[in-house]
Amino acid sequence: MYGTEKVSEDAERTAFRRAEKKYKLYYEDTFKSSKKKKQPKPVDLSEVLDFTAVLGLYKQNIQLPLGISALQCGFNGPVFCLENRPGFYFIPGALSVEEQCQWIRESLSSFPQPPNRTNHNAIYGPIDDLFVAAKEKKVLVEESSVPSLDSGANVCVGNGGSHRWKFCEGHLATSSRKTSKPVSAQVLLRKLRWSTLGLQFDWPKRNYDVSLPHNKIPETLCQLAKRLAAPAMPVGEEFQPEAAIVNYFGLGDTLGGHLDDMEADWSKPIVSMSLGCKAIFLLGGKSREDPPLAMFLRSGDAVLMAGEARECFHGVPRIFTDNENAEIAPLELQFSHEDDCSFLEYIRTSRININIRQVF
Ligand code: OGA
Ligand code: MN
Repeated sequence: MYGTEKVSEDAERTAFRRAEKKYKLYYEDTFKSSKKKKQPKPVDLSEVLDFTAVLGLYKQNIQLPLGISALQCGFNGPVFCLENRPGFYFIPGALSVEEQCQWIRESLSSFPQPPNRTNHNAIYGPIDDLFVAAKEKKVLVEESSVPSLDSGANVCVGNGGSHRWKFCEGHLATSSRKTSKPVSAQVLLRKLRWSTLGLQFDWPKRNYDVSLPHNKIPETLCQLAKRLAAPAMPVGEEFQPEAAIVNYFGLGDTLGGHLDDMEADWSKPIVSMSLGCKAIFLLGGKSREDPPLAMFLRSGDAVLMAGEARECFHGVPRIFTDNENAEIAPLELQFSHEDDCSFLEYIRTSRININIRQVF
């Protein structure tokens, strides 16, 4: 999963791949000389299941579409289930706007902090305070000298020996022939694709490496995940959050179809929360040949994948960052009351997904 998938011609022929292509962002062909901004190609959204609309029917006591049922699980609203995907649960608006803001802040400022790993670790080693550095327009530079222990710089022992990277003021950034080009913190923030909380996932080995240093999942996130997981848990059992993956999406970013099959116990749900711009989620079957169901995921929605749904291919082929489709007005309003506009600026064109797992 996560970009390791080879997109061969065969893969293009699966029903899942075809759905991904249908919803993916493509741009209109424009003449090179045209000064106009690139325009996204229109996409037919008529077959995308909209649980906010389903919630509207539910509230008006109107019969739900065939195959969708509602459960009362002690949340403010209903939890929806799909007849042909047992183990899948959709909780529209599971998080209040205040909670959404809180988890967006955490996802940007504390979750990517070491010892949590991010996609940048492989190249730069651990990076501290990326979000602050981006706000302050700092630049990450590689030092050519031998690292000294008290410098506080990041040391990354890669293939070619030890490198160290540190943030410095943009105007002070210089590079020599011996070092890599400096890279702005703003670019690194845009290229932040994932961070991992709790037990750390080793991507190259595709398993959880319990020997990697890690912190426990923060207690408030644990409590939230336990509460959200309840509808998908066996009676009398409590969900034990041990690991979480935070995904960051900008315009054009996708999460290819995959299975989350690295956890030992599949009977426990994955709790997945959406923040920021609206996305399309594809829920397939146990084979890539099964045509997936497309649905919208909005800021504050939560999804549970348990039981059979735990074995279903799924992915995110599209996020919407335009005003009309992103549907983040409540978030924008909430954030606009704050002095610090950096979170608002980020989330206007981004989506964050936090998915929480019980590993053992
Ligand atoms: C994942 C995942 C879904 C999402 O990270 O494994 O399936 O909504 N994420 O981003
Ligand atoms: Mn997944």
